[in-house]
Amino acid sequence: MYQLDGKSAIITGAAHGIGKAIAARLLDEGCAVGLLDVDLDGLKATSKELSAKGKVAIASCDVSSSLSVEKGVSTLTDSLGPIDILINNAGICKVGKLLETDVETWRNTFAVNVDGIFHMVRAVTPSMVDRRSGCIVNIASWMGKSGVASYGAYCASKFAAVSLTQSLACELGEFGIRVNAVGPGLVVDTKMRDESEVKRKAEGLPSAFDRAQSIPLRRPGFPDDIANAVAFLSSAQASYITGETISVTGGLWND
Ligand SMILES: NC(=O)c1ccc[n+]([C@@H]2O[C@H](COP(=O)([O-])OP(=O)(O)OC[C@H]3O[C@@H](n4cnc5c(N)ncnc54)[C@H](O)[C@@H]3O)[C@@H](O)[C@H]2O)c1
Repeated sequence: MYQLDGKSAIITGAAHGIGKAIAARLLDEGCAVGLLDVDLDGLKATSKELSAKGKVAIASCDVSSSLSVEKGVSTLTDSLGPIDILINNAGICKVGKLLETDVETWRNTFAVNVDGIFHMVRAVTPSMVDRRSGCIVNIASWMGKSGVASYGAYCASKFAAVSLTQSLACELGEFGIRVNAVGPGLVVDTKMRDESEVKRKAEGLPSAFDRAQSIPLRRPGFPDDIANAVAFLSSAQASYITGETISVTGGLWND
């Protein structure tokens, strides 16, 4: 549908959830994929599951470390050649009121969700600039457009991801590189969501499926919903779109 034959993509946080669904979707479009994650066992299992669809390379990588990113990207480019598409998906979310958030949680959230994008862009973009072509998609959140109680650190990090998307789009457009973001809503069937649900349940807060009743489309999102938007933004059909954060939320709702 989006004809990515002959292209190569790197996807961070691809061992589970949304990143894994994006990898599967890009493979279905004919793209070779390089998967990075801190969870090497998870990466191996994902690679085994997806490799029937096309070329899959993996490398263990902590996106919060510039050194780890340089090594991981180098391993993947050795196998895949120059990278056409970068998907910054790795992210963490710790639920908690801002005044009760410790410094370590705040720093870790920014180290993965914000520094991770910065490190990946620095490692992958120079070869895109040389080739005057490329595409970056950052996975932000609906919480990157709206502050929410008990998600203060996470919201701030996702606002930063949206802002980085806009600044990078301004700086890289002249080199033929488009930079966009996708802002998922409430997406189930992911590790992060499962962990957040356990915590919400312990605090007596409503479940994802209960909360989905206030979403206009009356259902939670699934990883494939996000992967579809990423495949579109990565394709030539989106060739005049840059600097945007597309919400994939089933419509707006009040949490
Ligand atoms: N699930 C949702 O409802 C939802 C909503 C909005 C945005 N998002 C965003 O979507 C993205 C994917 O989340 P998900 O729901 O699929 O969660 P997930 O936990 O299933 O996947 C996140 C992946 O990132 C990896 N990861 C974590 N820290 C890393 C690090 N330092 N370096 C490399 N990899 C690391 C994890 O091992 C995991 O495989 C995240 O950026 C998240 O903020 C999710």
